[in-house]
Amino acid sequence: MVDSVATPEPQLLKPGIKAPVAETLLTPRFYTTDFDAVARLDISANEAEIKAVIDELRADYNRHHFVRDDEFKQSWDHITGEKRRAFIDFLERSCTSEFSGFLLFKELSRRLKKNNPLLSQAFEYLARDEARHAGFLNKSMADLNLSLDLNFLTKNRTYTFFPPEWIIYTVYLSEKIGYWRYILVHQHMQEHPEYQFYPLFRKFESWCQDENRHGDFFKALLRSQTKLWKSWTAKLWVRFFLLTVFATHTMTVFERASFYETIGIHPRKYNNRVIQETNNTSARAFPLILNTNHPLFFWRLEQCSENNLKIAAIKNSNQPGIVKFFQQIPPVVAILWHMLQLYLIKPIETEATRGTVL
Ligand SMILES: [Fe+2]
Ligand SMILES: [Fe+2]
Repeated sequence: MVDSVATPEPQLLKPGIKAPVAETLLTPRFYTTDFDAVARLDISANEAEIKAVIDELRADYNRHHFVRDDEFKQSWDHITGEKRRAFIDFLERSCTSEFSGFLLFKELSRRLKKNNPLLSQAFEYLARDEARHAGFLNKSMADLNLSLDLNFLTKNRTYTFFPPEWIIYTVYLSEKIGYWRYILVHQHMQEHPEYQFYPLFRKFESWCQDENRHGDFFKALLRSQTKLWKSWTAKLWVRFFLLTVFATHTMTVFERASFYETIGIHPRKYNNRVIQETNNTSARAFPLILNTNHPLFFWRLEQCSENNLKIAAIKNSNQPGIVKFFQQIPPVVAILWHMLQLYLIKPIETEATRGTVL
């Protein structure tokens, strides 16, 4: 049994426009980077693969996919209560993260135009796709009489600076985990159409292929930079990013367990499968992957989630600020402890098996 937290009633910025949820470590981030350093990347070591992926992006297989067909044209007022709140929350989170991708890719495309037209072109295709994804999700929110003011979001969110290397690691992982998140929901809906309470999920099959291609582009870029996979520091960073992405995923899935239960998905099984599949996929890009079969791997991830729920409960309590501060220390220390133990689990080397496992 998974503890699920009731989703709060959405707050409004103005009528029909939802106030963005407060930024936390778990809400989707907005990124900025050293654009000149990206422009200077020497991609010659893997140029053929990069060009092949760009050709795929240029083909724009999904140009006619994001159409709101007749199925959407009806009232959705029958979706009520926790189901409605949890669904709005899901849409907002997804829309924000798609839009965050759009802003980063658009800016990369703009800033690289002069000095690196090939990569600039690639980022333009990525931005095109993410704009479609974010727009489609925002229109789904509008079906529930709410939408996100994406202009407001652009101007008011905090932008986190990541050097290009971190951007390549994290965006690669977020595209691939995004692929698995969408495709597994889609497969579940195919097997259990009774849970398809809104037609958005029908769109996920081709949609997730966009994310797959985006991930392939970042994989090709990563493999063009030897230092990102062929050094001991790269191995330490890869372990760190795999772990933080999986821990964040676990915490958000369990925090939003009620949404997954609404659509008949078992949060724990879903979380484990998404992580295992993403971990296996990333063997194509990374010099190592995590050992998800270690007996304590998922247990420790869930301990992080348990402690995260404790922190949320403390934050929502009526205690004075200073009391809340001290109450949060033990769960924060527990999360860091479990993360450290997870980090120390012996990883699985992938370079030796490259070519045979792919
Ligand atoms: Fe996307
Ligand atoms: Fe994407």
